[in-house]
Amino acid sequence: MRYFTKLNIESKISEMILNKIEHIKESEWIQHLEQSIYLLNIRDFESDPDIVEIIDKFGSEKKICLFRLPPKICYSWHKDAKRQASINMLIKGFNSLCVFGTESIERKFINLDKIEHKKDTYYLMNVKESHTVFNFDQERYVVSISIPDTPYIEVQDYLIEKQLAC
Ligand SMILES: [Fe+2]
Repeated sequence: MRYFTKLNIESKISEMILNKIEHIKESEWIQHLEQSIYLLNIRDFESDPDIVEIIDKFGSEKKICLFRLPPKICYSWHKDAKRQASINMLIKGFNSLCVFGTESIERKFINLDKIEHKKDTYYLMNVKESHTVFNFDQERYVVSISIPDTPYIEVQDYLIEKQLAC
């Protein structure tokens, strides 16, 4: 699939991240456009060893984030500038949609698809394709592991070879 791929990894870190969210001070959040960022550490992923391996191979230890988006907000359609791909897992705010699409010549977005995030489930996302998020009634928290330099397709091939995606 060209927009996103579900990983065959059942995460064990959601409860720990939810607990962390309760204890992060407001001053520890970094404001960035319409959302806030809290930096995570590779050690936060100790219970998900396959993810630690993926971060070691493709990620950057300084670019593992928890994103917080206020309720009743949507982004502008965009393609991420500073990363090739990302691996995301929704932690809280399941009444939200991550939508991908392709901009047509008439500036309409066509070929839409959406990630229906499941609990404890990571997705590899092709953030070089246009995407947006619609958030409804809750604050939305997502773990996001940036892949700065490796194209989505290469990461996808690796995950399939390792049977971490199909
Ligand atoms: Fe994005």
